[in-house]
Amino acid sequence: MSPKKPLIIANWKLEKPLNQALSWVKDHKKELVILTQKSTLIMCPDLCSIYPLHKNLNDTSIALGAQNCSEHAHGPFTGQISAQSLKDAGARYCLIGHAEVRACGDTDEAIARKAAQLIEQGITPIVCVGENAQERDSGATKSILEKQLAPTLVHYMSTPIPLIIAYEPVWAIGTGKAVSSSELEQALQHIYTTCSHAGMTQKPVILYGGSVNEEVARELLQTTKIDGFLIGRASLDFQKFKKIVLSTLGELSILELNS
Ligand code: PGA
Repeated sequence: MSPKKPLIIANWKLEKPLNQALSWVKDHKKELVILTQKSTLIMCPDLCSIYPLHKNLNDTSIALGAQNCSEHAHGPFTGQISAQSLKDAGARYCLIGHAEVRACGDTDEAIARKAAQLIEQGITPIVCVGENAQERDSGATKSILEKQLAPTLVHYMSTPIPLIIAYEPVWAIGTGKAVSSSELEQALQHIYTTCSHAGMTQKPVILYGGSVNEEVARELLQTTKIDGFLIGRASLDFQKFKKIVLSTLGELSILELNS
């Protein structure tokens, strides 16, 4: 298990309107703050909720992330949001390349341009990659990961922004079917190799996402070199989210938190 604090990201997708998002945070703020003693937490609510949640959490170390951003800095792009606006609203992180966004037409090149916009604003991208079921069955996982990462890695050659990659197999998102330890370890090794072949000097922080629950998180953290998790459905319910975070900490840490 990584000696660093596990990095846990909640991806609320289109599931919590502003008032619900704000109540979730207000109701559980005390416990969330305790959890951050031993883990790093990033909440990714919908766009409208970023600023109010940032205001509510800015006396804590809990960070806000967006779920997507424009590949453009400004211009006639109705309905889009720039990296600068996300920064002004208090976002320190932003998911890019999530499978659900790729499914709407985001290409690897567009995702790379989003990374460039975010890096320029000092926002840390969370670069989501992963193969679909057909690609997995045909043994194409490694080449898909390389293809998805290549254009984005170019933007990390001379930046202090950390490279955070979320490996999220499409077949595991929202299906209740999580990856096995051995399959995850293979994907991790391949991502490390891809990054070093691309000339990256920094080691990427790699998260796993896809049907993460308490048991999956505990097992994968104990048996692989994963640095944390990107959690969708299970992050909507505070008790489930808390159990996942606690399951990543090890028994001693839980005792310390309870005392
Ligand atoms: P899930 O979603 O945890 O509901 O599978 C993960 C994600 O889409 O980031």
